[in-house]
Amino acid sequence: MNIKVKFLALVLSMLMLVPSSVKADEGMWLLSLIGKNYSDMQQKGFKLTADDIYNINQSCIKDAIVGLGNAGSPFWHFCTAEIVSDKGLLTTNHHCGYGQIQEHSTVEHDYLRDGFWAYTMEEELPNPGLTASILVRVEDVTNQVLAALNDDMTEAERNKAIVEVSKQISAKAKEGTNYEATVKSMFNNNQFFLFVHNIYKDVRLVGAPPSSMGKFGGDTDNWMWPRHTADFSMFRIYTAPDGSPAEYSKDNVPLKPKHHLPINIKGVEENDFAMIMGFPGTTNRFVTSYGLEEVMNITNKLRYEIRTQKINVWKAAMNADQAVKIKYASKYASCSNYWKYSNEQNKALKALNTIGVKQDIEKRYNEWAKGKDAKYQNVLSEIEKMIAARKPYMAARTYLAEGLLSGPELPMQAFGVQMALIQAENATAEEKAKIMDELKKEAKTFYKDYDQALETKTIATLFEYVYKNIEPEYCPEFLAEINKKYKGNFEKYAADAMKKSVFANEETFMKFLEKPNVKKLAKDPMVVAGSGAYMDYVAVAKKIKNAAPDLDRMQRLFVYGLLDMNGNKPIAPDANSTIRCTYGNCLAYEPRDGVYYSYYTTLDGVMEKEDPTNPEFIVPAKLKELWNAKDYGRYANAKGELPTCFITNNDITGGNSGSPVMNAQGHLIGLAFDGNSEAMSGDIDFEENMQRCINLDVRYMLFIIDKFAGAKNLINEMTIVE
Ligand code: ARG
Repeated sequence: MNIKVKFLALVLSMLMLVPSSVKADEGMWLLSLIGKNYSDMQQKGFKLTADDIYNINQSCIKDAIVGLGNAGSPFWHFCTAEIVSDKGLLTTNHHCGYGQIQEHSTVEHDYLRDGFWAYTMEEELPNPGLTASILVRVEDVTNQVLAALNDDMTEAERNKAIVEVSKQISAKAKEGTNYEATVKSMFNNNQFFLFVHNIYKDVRLVGAPPSSMGKFGGDTDNWMWPRHTADFSMFRIYTAPDGSPAEYSKDNVPLKPKHHLPINIKGVEENDFAMIMGFPGTTNRFVTSYGLEEVMNITNKLRYEIRTQKINVWKAAMNADQAVKIKYASKYASCSNYWKYSNEQNKALKALNTIGVKQDIEKRYNEWAKGKDAKYQNVLSEIEKMIAARKPYMAARTYLAEGLLSGPELPMQAFGVQMALIQAENATAEEKAKIMDELKKEAKTFYKDYDQALETKTIATLFEYVYKNIEPEYCPEFLAEINKKYKGNFEKYAADAMKKSVFANEETFMKFLEKPNVKKLAKDPMVVAGSGAYMDYVAVAKKIKNAAPDLDRMQRLFVYGLLDMNGNKPIAPDANSTIRCTYGNCLAYEPRDGVYYSYYTTLDGVMEKEDPTNPEFIVPAKLKELWNAKDYGRYANAKGELPTCFITNNDITGGNSGSPVMNAQGHLIGLAFDGNSEAMSGDIDFEENMQRCINLDVRYMLFIIDKFAGAKNLINEMTIVE
């Protein structure tokens, strides 16, 4: 990873301090412990054995489940995919492959708009940096880790010791193999598990429907049921000729998987068993009522408000220009997804009185703590105090992070370049050449998806918004100066800044790189803004830490209490991007009084939603023809309809996107792709009556591959159960 990317990754990981969380029919279960749930699974209709899900000595379902990641952080899985042929073919969501589809798109070959299909393996498109990881084994290493810890340690010492011993454990697990390994903490550092993976690095794009199908409904339908989105795309894993993971090479061969999922088109009925395996990212189910209040009133609220500013500016520019639309499509989607989520989650948390639920749990904890060791006393009142103490800084941090660091792009881009150049100054000639080379490459990638006019507008809008809304005490100095110098005219500032900055566009930047003057660079308006915002962010983050020095420890003790209170009843740890299994049933629901939502949708609903005047609801002519002809073939249900999506009560979250929904036999029946707005509180508290997982029906997917795209090559390599 180049140094600039490394730096940005660090910043991004800091920005990710987004709350996460969960609770019970609930459960994102660890695979190695799934035996504990086995009788419950059987009761719900499961027909296989626990060994069919996870067994390290024989092929099993886990061998077909793939975590999609990036080379820089391969253990952070942004999505899930599943192997559906003996040649390493993968299915995942359209919104998971979106970044890759976007990267390969140009105005001439707009795969976002028109879709993409490889009719031979030669036509498949490589995606450097994309990784696919498959679990080899998971092991409870709690005792090994705890042996290195003691109660006299401060939390910082403790965390350091955890990192050390975790490194040793994973190094040992990798010895003499091609595997990658990591130790992950569970239950807020109360337990620890080792995960050993094969991580494949040559993953090629195979197919995607047009966005008018893969993203049908857009932001309007996002996080909503009923849904009619063909949210799938296809990839393939390649390996070195000996089957080991390897970087892209034309000599690589398709993966020969240990297991692939048969695809069952017999259809899914209400109450049928449904199981999902994948890589849920983050949940926050052990958060206290105090922490939750902070999430609602600061993080979610401000994130929504700040992103609304950015989204409005971007949307207008994208709708006005096809080239801008392609460039910004993927960046826009990642911003808008959690923009809407933040707002819907707050609505659900209020409607379901989740604070009240948390308060009840806290009462029970306090009862439990009575008569226990002193360290368990006052845990909750300490948490309350610390969260109150950090309140003023939390809002400031959100403005800085959302409005400045990840709002416009140039300030952080500029700051990252400055850091790299400073490093180059003190490096050997050889290292320096390498850094310069990487900077050039990175800039090419950056400016490929960049529009100067739009960035100018984004800077003007967000700088002004932050200036006007952040508590003056925490307003970065550079913003106050801009306001003074330009008398509040941030548009004039942005236009001026662009004239002066070497970062304004690819041409100005490449010219600068030919003879970089690091001293002068410090005065570049984008460096001034980027470094100013970043330093302020770091300072505020430090204040947050100092105001709540013991929060992690208190949270760990609180969760220890909850586990102990729970006795022997299985309870699942929060999601942390490790592989999990969740099971349940296909189920309708009532979102509001007097309203009933069926458990499935059909192609007829796509036509009902059609609106040629709204880019989110356009239906391609070819799909309409197929609908008119009712030419559904073997993909129709018994009523002659073409099913599109269905819902289940599985417990999933972001990162699960693309996960296989399997029937009682472990056959693929759907692809999980969303959750429902009414239970958007689910990451904090699983809502048994309301929480639904929204899935693409495999029959709609196969229909599109077969009849819409005519990609018989793909149909023929899959195992289809009729
Ligand atoms: N909400 C979905 C998730 O987080 C993403 C859906 C993508 N579709 C969209 N219209 N943005 O997994």
